[in-house]
Amino acid sequence: RRTAAVIPAAGRGVRLGPGAPKALRTLGGIPMLVHAVRAMARARAVSLVVVVAPPDGAAEVRTLLDDHALPGTTEVIVVPGGATRQESVRLGLAALPVDVTDVLVHDAARPLVPAETVDAVAAAVRQGAPAVVPALPLADTVKEVEPRSDGGPEAVLGTPERARLRAVQTPQGFDRETLTRAHEKVALEGEGATDDAGMVERLGLPVVAVAGHEQAFKVTRPLDLVLAEAVLARRRA
Ligand code: CTP
Ligand code: MG
Repeated sequence: RRTAAVIPAAGRGVRLGPGAPKALRTLGGIPMLVHAVRAMARARAVSLVVVVAPPDGAAEVRTLLDDHALPGTTEVIVVPGGATRQESVRLGLAALPVDVTDVLVHDAARPLVPAETVDAVAAAVRQGAPAVVPALPLADTVKEVEPRSDGGPEAVLGTPERARLRAVQTPQGFDRETLTRAHEKVALEGEGATDDAGMVERLGLPVVAVAGHEQAFKVTRPLDLVLAEAVLARRRA
């Protein structure tokens, strides 16, 4: 079997605030995307990385990656992305060579995921799981509410049992065929899911969760950038 990683990196990063596209913002002086590609390339299972660049930024991203050394002999393909994450992942999948059997989808916005987490997901797919997510227990209690957009108080509808909930991260790992089929179904039916495994669930196929890692957190808001800089500084010390 051959495992490839698809890295959606085409988002603008609206919640991070004004500036360059999020994947190109730096952490410790190095673009977040380069950290993410290195994290995938360091994993033993991954021999190919497909980077899905901002729609008008594929050439810039190609140059950027050529300028930064990658561990090992990992091959990197760059393709332009789309208007939604789902579309970007679909475009990344379309660029995979025929011999790829297993696919890891990893957010560029999770630049500090440890290689062991990547390999744990890849191993579970190789052992036959059609879909695998890295997941962590929640620290906060979660409420379901009746959402309001006017800023007023929202009615609380219920409290799911926290011990049964998990926050899921990436890389999410898939049998290639399964993920491609899931994306085709969602593209046909219109509205999407917030993660790739959710699409596989809609096919009625089993998804399993393995242990995630606290350093696989997503850089979404400015505070996450502060945390990421601190984690990186500690690693380099
Ligand atoms: N992504 C993508 N194509 C899009 C939108 C998002 O490839 N059209 C990627 C992002 O680059 C990121 C990952 O999906 O690596 C997770 O998305 P998110 O954290 O939401 O990033 P952004 O969409 O860039 O951020 P925001 O939602 O704040 O604009
Ligand atoms: Mg987004």
